[in-house]
Amino acid sequence: MRRRGARLATALLAAGLLGTPPAGFPGDIPLLAYLRAYPVAPAEDETRAPPRREEHAARRALSGPGFHDPANPDLRHLQRHDEAVAALPKDGNGFPDWMRALREGRIAPRTSLKGDTEPEVLDLDVIMRNTREMPPVRFPHKAHTLWLACANCHPEPFEPRAGANRIAMADIFRGRYCGVCHDRVAFITFYSCPRCHSVGAGG
Ligand code: HEC
Ligand code: HEC
Ligand code: HEC
Repeated sequence: MRRRGARLATALLAAGLLGTPPAGFPGDIPLLAYLRAYPVAPAEDETRAPPRREEHAARRALSGPGFHDPANPDLRHLQRHDEAVAALPKDGNGFPDWMRALREGRIAPRTSLKGDTEPEVLDLDVIMRNTREMPPVRFPHKAHTLWLACANCHPEPFEPRAGANRIAMADIFRGRYCGVCHDRVAFITFYSCPRCHSVGAGG
Protein backbone atom coordinates (compact mmCIF):
# COMPACT_ATOMS: atom_id res chain seq x y z
CA MET A 1 0.00 0.00 0.00
CA ARG A 2 2.79 2.41 0.94
CA ARG A 3 4.66 1.32 -2.18
CA ARG A 4 1.68 2.28 -4.33
CA GLY A 5 1.77 5.75 -2.75
CA ALA A 6 5.46 6.06 -3.43
CA ARG A 7 4.87 5.23 -7.09
CA LEU A 8 2.12 7.82 -7.27
CA ALA A 9 4.35 10.45 -5.69
CA THR A 10 7.12 9.63 -8.14
CA ALA A 11 4.68 9.95 -11.01
CA LEU A 12 3.57 13.34 -9.68
CA LEU A 13 7.17 14.51 -9.45
CA ALA A 14 7.86 13.36 -12.96
CA ALA A 15 4.75 15.21 -14.09
CA GLY A 16 6.06 18.33 -12.37
CA LEU A 17 9.28 18.04 -14.31
CA LEU A 18 7.62 17.50 -17.65
CA GLY A 19 4.99 20.13 -17.00
CA THR A 20 2.17 17.89 -18.22
CA PRO A 21 0.16 15.77 -15.81
CA PRO A 22 -0.47 12.14 -16.75
CA ALA A 23 -4.01 11.31 -17.91
CA GLY A 24 -6.32 10.81 -14.96
CA PHE A 25 -4.00 12.65 -12.55
CA PRO A 26 -6.09 13.38 -9.48
CA GLY A 27 -6.17 16.73 -7.74
CA ASP A 28 -5.23 20.28 -8.35
CA ILE A 29 -2.37 20.69 -10.76
CA PRO A 30 -1.24 23.97 -9.09
CA LEU A 31 -0.03 21.96 -6.09
CA LEU A 32 2.85 20.84 -8.26
CA ALA A 33 4.12 24.39 -8.00
CA TYR A 34 5.05 23.63 -4.38
CA LEU A 35 7.28 20.76 -5.27
CA ARG A 36 10.92 20.69 -6.11
CA ALA A 37 11.88 18.91 -9.32
CA TYR A 38 13.17 15.37 -9.00
CA PRO A 39 16.93 15.51 -9.64
CA VAL A 40 17.63 13.56 -12.80
CA ALA A 41 21.13 12.87 -14.07
CA PRO A 42 21.78 14.06 -17.64
CA ALA A 43 21.30 11.24 -20.14
CA GLU A 44 24.82 11.49 -21.60
CA ASP A 45 26.48 10.83 -18.21
CA GLU A 46 25.92 7.14 -17.56
CA THR A 47 28.52 6.89 -14.81
CA ARG A 48 26.46 8.96 -12.41
CA ALA A 49 24.60 7.30 -9.55
CA PRO A 50 20.85 6.90 -10.08
CA PRO A 51 18.87 10.04 -9.17
CA ARG A 52 18.23 10.32 -5.45
CA ARG A 53 15.19 11.88 -3.85
CA GLU A 54 16.18 15.26 -2.51
CA GLU A 55 16.37 15.53 1.27
CA HIS A 56 13.36 17.17 2.85
CA ALA A 57 13.89 20.76 3.99
CA ALA A 58 13.29 19.79 7.63
CA ARG A 59 15.97 17.11 7.49
CA ARG A 60 18.43 19.48 5.80
CA ALA A 61 17.84 22.13 8.45
CA LEU A 62 18.55 19.64 11.24
CA SER A 63 21.75 18.26 9.78
CA GLY A 64 22.99 21.43 8.10
CA PRO A 65 25.21 24.18 9.47
CA GLY A 66 23.57 27.18 11.12
CA PHE A 67 21.31 25.15 13.34
CA HIS A 68 23.75 25.21 16.26
CA ASP A 69 26.35 27.78 17.35
CA PRO A 70 29.72 26.04 16.76
CA ALA A 71 31.43 28.57 19.09
CA ASN A 72 29.33 27.47 22.05
CA PRO A 73 31.56 25.31 24.30
CA ASP A 74 28.48 23.47 25.58
CA LEU A 75 27.57 22.26 22.11
CA ARG A 76 29.13 18.83 22.70
CA HIS A 77 26.86 18.31 25.74
CA LEU A 78 23.76 18.42 23.54
CA GLN A 79 22.44 15.10 22.36
CA ARG A 80 22.66 14.82 18.59
CA HIS A 81 19.34 14.52 16.77
CA ASP A 82 20.29 11.31 14.95
CA GLU A 83 21.38 9.78 18.28
CA ALA A 84 18.14 10.80 19.97
CA VAL A 85 15.94 9.17 17.33
CA ALA A 86 18.19 6.21 16.48
CA ALA A 87 16.17 3.71 18.52
CA LEU A 88 12.77 4.84 17.17
CA PRO A 89 10.89 3.03 14.39
CA LYS A 90 11.07 4.93 11.07
CA ASP A 91 8.41 5.69 8.47
CA GLY A 92 8.81 5.32 4.70
CA ASN A 93 10.52 8.73 4.53
CA GLY A 94 13.16 7.88 7.11
CA PHE A 95 11.62 10.06 9.80
CA PRO A 96 10.61 8.69 13.21
CA ASP A 97 7.22 6.98 13.10
CA TRP A 98 5.86 8.69 16.20
CA MET A 99 2.57 6.77 16.24
CA ARG A 100 4.38 3.44 16.28
CA ALA A 101 6.83 4.72 18.87
CA LEU A 102 3.88 5.68 21.06
CA ARG A 103 1.97 2.43 20.53
CA GLU A 104 5.05 0.32 21.16
CA GLY A 105 5.66 2.23 24.39
CA ARG A 106 9.08 3.51 23.29
CA ILE A 107 8.03 7.02 24.26
CA ALA A 108 5.62 8.18 26.98
CA PRO A 109 4.85 11.87 26.40
CA ARG A 110 3.30 13.82 29.29
CA THR A 111 0.11 15.81 28.93
CA SER A 112 1.41 18.46 31.32
CA LEU A 113 4.69 19.55 32.89
CA LYS A 114 3.95 17.58 36.04
CA GLY A 115 2.45 14.68 34.10
CA ASP A 116 -0.50 14.58 36.48
CA THR A 117 -3.33 14.72 33.90
CA GLU A 118 -4.66 12.12 31.48
CA PRO A 119 -5.37 12.89 27.80
CA GLU A 120 -9.04 13.01 26.76
CA VAL A 121 -8.97 10.23 24.17
CA LEU A 122 -11.80 10.08 21.64
CA ASP A 123 -12.08 6.84 19.67
CA LEU A 124 -13.92 8.12 16.59
CA ASP A 125 -12.85 7.77 12.96
CA VAL A 126 -14.29 10.28 10.48
CA ILE A 127 -14.33 9.19 6.84
CA MET A 128 -13.75 12.18 4.56
CA ARG A 129 -14.96 11.53 1.04
CA ASN A 130 -14.25 14.72 -0.91
CA THR A 131 -11.15 13.15 -2.43
CA ARG A 132 -11.94 12.79 -6.14
CA GLU A 133 -10.05 9.81 -7.63
CA MET A 134 -8.08 9.24 -4.43
CA PRO A 135 -9.33 6.77 -1.80
CA PRO A 136 -11.32 8.49 0.98
CA VAL A 137 -9.44 9.77 4.03
CA ARG A 138 -9.87 8.09 7.40
CA PHE A 139 -9.28 10.71 10.07
CA PRO A 140 -8.51 8.90 13.34
CA HIS A 141 -9.46 10.91 16.45
CA LYS A 142 -7.84 8.32 18.69
CA ALA A 143 -4.36 8.67 17.20
CA HIS A 144 -4.60 12.45 17.53
CA THR A 145 -6.18 12.76 20.97
CA LEU A 146 -3.45 10.55 22.46
CA TRP A 147 -1.30 13.66 22.10
CA LEU A 148 -3.55 16.60 21.36
CA ALA A 149 -6.41 18.31 23.17
CA CYS A 150 -9.64 18.96 21.23
CA ALA A 151 -8.93 22.71 21.27
CA ASN A 152 -5.98 22.22 18.91
CA CYS A 153 -8.46 21.45 16.13
CA HIS A 154 -11.93 22.63 17.21
CA PRO A 155 -13.41 25.04 16.29
CA GLU A 156 -10.31 25.98 14.25
CA PRO A 157 -9.16 24.72 11.79
CA PHE A 158 -12.02 22.15 11.76
CA GLU A 159 -15.67 22.72 12.51
CA PRO A 160 -16.52 19.56 14.51
CA ARG A 161 -19.09 18.16 12.12
CA ALA A 162 -18.37 15.44 9.57
CA GLY A 163 -18.26 16.90 6.05
CA ALA A 164 -18.50 20.52 7.26
CA ASN A 165 -15.04 21.54 6.09
CA ARG A 166 -14.17 22.08 2.45
CA ILE A 167 -10.57 21.02 2.22
CA ALA A 168 -8.46 21.00 -0.94
CA MET A 169 -5.16 19.18 -1.04
CA ALA A 170 -3.50 22.42 -2.16
CA ASP A 171 -4.67 24.03 1.13
CA ILE A 172 -2.99 21.24 3.08
CA PHE A 173 0.25 21.72 1.15
CA ARG A 174 0.00 25.44 1.96
CA GLY A 175 -0.10 24.66 5.69
CA ARG A 176 -3.84 24.85 6.35
CA TYR A 177 -6.18 22.22 7.84
CA CYS A 178 -4.20 18.97 8.29
CA GLY A 179 -1.16 20.91 7.03
CA VAL A 180 -1.11 23.03 10.20
CA CYS A 181 0.74 20.07 11.71
CA HIS A 182 1.54 17.63 8.89
CA ASP A 183 4.76 18.63 7.10
CA ARG A 184 5.64 20.58 10.24
CA VAL A 185 5.52 18.54 13.42
CA ALA A 186 3.68 15.47 12.11
CA PHE A 187 4.56 13.15 9.22
CA ILE A 188 5.44 14.56 5.80
CA THR A 189 2.42 14.86 3.52
CA PHE A 190 3.96 14.54 0.12
CA TYR A 191 5.36 11.03 0.20
CA SER A 192 2.61 9.70 2.49
CA CYS A 193 -0.64 9.91 0.49
CA PRO A 194 -1.89 6.45 1.58
CA ARG A 195 -1.39 7.15 5.27
CA CYS A 196 -4.35 9.57 5.08
CA HIS A 197 -6.10 8.30 1.94
CA SER A 198 -6.35 4.89 3.54
CA VAL A 199 -9.97 3.81 3.13
CA GLY A 200 -10.35 0.65 1.07
CA ALA A 201 -6.63 0.51 0.44
CA GLY A 202 -5.96 -1.86 3.30
CA GLY A 203 -4.76 0.98 5.55
C1 HEC B 1 -2.31 14.48 6.24
C2 HEC B 1 -3.33 13.76 5.52
C3 HEC B 1 -3.28 13.73 4.01
C4 HEC B 1 -2.23 13.34 3.20
C5 HEC B 1 -0.88 12.82 3.63
C6 HEC B 1 -2.69 13.49 1.85
N1 HEC B 1 -3.97 13.94 1.82
FE1 HEC B 1 -5.10 14.33 0.15
N2 HEC B 1 -6.63 14.97 1.35
C7 HEC B 1 -6.64 14.96 2.71
C8 HEC B 1 -7.91 15.50 3.19
C9 HEC B 1 -8.31 15.67 4.64
C10 HEC B 1 -8.67 15.84 2.05
C11 HEC B 1 -10.08 16.45 2.01
C12 HEC B 1 -11.10 15.36 2.20
C13 HEC B 1 -12.49 15.89 2.42
O1 HEC B 1 -12.63 17.08 2.68
O2 HEC B 1 -13.46 15.10 2.33
C14 HEC B 1 -7.83 15.48 0.90
C15 HEC B 1 -8.24 15.65 -0.43
C16 HEC B 1 -7.52 15.25 -1.52
C17 HEC B 1 -7.98 15.36 -2.89
C18 HEC B 1 -9.32 15.94 -3.35
C19 HEC B 1 -9.36 17.42 -3.16
C20 HEC B 1 -8.46 18.13 -4.11
O3 HEC B 1 -7.70 19.00 -3.68
O4 HEC B 1 -8.50 17.82 -5.32
C21 HEC B 1 -7.00 14.84 -3.68
C22 HEC B 1 -7.00 14.71 -5.18
C23 HEC B 1 -5.89 14.43 -2.79
N3 HEC B 1 -6.26 14.70 -1.50
C24 HEC B 1 -4.70 13.88 -3.22
C25 HEC B 1 -3.62 13.59 -2.39
C26 HEC B 1 -2.32 13.13 -2.85
C27 HEC B 1 -1.96 12.89 -4.31
C28 HEC B 1 -1.54 12.98 -1.74
C29 HEC B 1 -0.08 12.59 -1.65
C30 HEC B 1 0.82 13.41 -2.48
C31 HEC B 1 -2.35 13.30 -0.60
N4 HEC B 1 -3.58 13.69 -1.02
C32 HEC B 1 -1.89 13.22 0.72
C33 HEC B 1 -5.62 14.53 3.54
C34 HEC B 1 -4.37 14.09 3.13
C1 HEC C 1 -6.02 16.80 15.06
C2 HEC C 1 -7.29 17.47 14.92
C3 HEC C 1 -8.44 17.05 15.79
C4 HEC C 1 -8.50 16.88 17.16
C5 HEC C 1 -7.37 17.02 18.18
C6 HEC C 1 -9.87 16.59 17.48
N1 HEC C 1 -10.62 16.57 16.32
FE1 HEC C 1 -12.63 16.27 16.21
N2 HEC C 1 -12.55 16.36 14.15
C7 HEC C 1 -11.40 16.59 13.43
C8 HEC C 1 -11.71 16.46 12.01
C9 HEC C 1 -10.72 16.61 10.87
C10 HEC C 1 -13.08 16.15 11.92
C11 HEC C 1 -13.87 15.92 10.62
C12 HEC C 1 -14.31 17.22 10.02
C13 HEC C 1 -14.90 17.06 8.64
O1 HEC C 1 -15.32 15.95 8.28
O2 HEC C 1 -14.95 18.06 7.89
C14 HEC C 1 -13.59 16.11 13.30
C15 HEC C 1 -14.91 15.87 13.64
C16 HEC C 1 -15.38 15.87 14.95
C17 HEC C 1 -16.76 15.68 15.31
C18 HEC C 1 -17.93 15.44 14.34
C19 HEC C 1 -18.11 13.96 14.12
C20 HEC C 1 -19.28 13.67 13.23
O3 HEC C 1 -19.50 12.47 12.94
O4 HEC C 1 -19.97 14.60 12.77
C21 HEC C 1 -16.84 15.73 16.67
C22 HEC C 1 -18.08 15.60 17.54
C23 HEC C 1 -15.50 15.96 17.17
N3 HEC C 1 -14.64 16.03 16.08
C24 HEC C 1 -15.16 16.06 18.51
C25 HEC C 1 -13.86 16.11 18.99
C26 HEC C 1 -13.52 16.04 20.41
C27 HEC C 1 -14.51 15.95 21.56
C28 HEC C 1 -12.15 16.11 20.47
C29 HEC C 1 -11.25 15.99 21.70
C30 HEC C 1 -11.48 14.82 22.52
C31 HEC C 1 -11.67 16.23 19.11
N4 HEC C 1 -12.73 16.21 18.24
C32 HEC C 1 -10.33 16.35 18.77
C33 HEC C 1 -10.16 16.91 13.94
C34 HEC C 1 -9.80 16.85 15.28
C1 HEC D 1 -3.03 19.85 15.53
C2 HEC D 1 -2.10 19.04 14.77
C3 HEC D 1 -2.64 18.05 13.74
C4 HEC D 1 -3.61 18.26 12.78
C5 HEC D 1 -4.37 19.54 12.48
C6 HEC D 1 -3.74 17.01 12.06
N1 HEC D 1 -2.87 16.08 12.55
FE1 HEC D 1 -2.68 14.13 11.94
N2 HEC D 1 -1.24 13.85 13.35
C7 HEC D 1 -0.76 14.80 14.22
C8 HEC D 1 0.27 14.23 15.06
C9 HEC D 1 1.07 14.96 16.14
C10 HEC D 1 0.36 12.87 14.70
C11 HEC D 1 1.31 11.83 15.29
C12 HEC D 1 2.71 12.08 14.81
C13 HEC D 1 2.98 11.51 13.44
O1 HEC D 1 2.42 10.45 13.08
O2 HEC D 1 3.77 12.14 12.70
C14 HEC D 1 -0.61 12.66 13.61
C15 HEC D 1 -0.81 11.44 12.97
C16 HEC D 1 -1.73 11.23 11.97
C17 HEC D 1 -1.99 9.96 11.34
C18 HEC D 1 -1.28 8.65 11.64
C19 HEC D 1 -2.16 7.77 12.48
C20 HEC D 1 -1.52 6.44 12.72
O3 HEC D 1 -2.16 5.65 13.42
O4 HEC D 1 -0.41 6.15 12.24
C21 HEC D 1 -2.93 10.17 10.36
C22 HEC D 1 -3.54 9.13 9.44
C23 HEC D 1 -3.28 11.57 10.40
N3 HEC D 1 -2.53 12.18 11.38
C24 HEC D 1 -4.19 12.18 9.55
C25 HEC D 1 -4.59 13.51 9.65
C26 HEC D 1 -5.57 14.12 8.78
C27 HEC D 1 -6.30 13.43 7.66
C28 HEC D 1 -5.71 15.41 9.20
C29 HEC D 1 -6.64 16.48 8.66
C30 HEC D 1 -8.03 16.10 8.46
C31 HEC D 1 -4.80 15.61 10.32
N4 HEC D 1 -4.14 14.43 10.55
C32 HEC D 1 -4.65 16.79 11.02
C33 HEC D 1 -1.15 16.10 14.31
C34 HEC D 1 -2.17 16.69 13.56
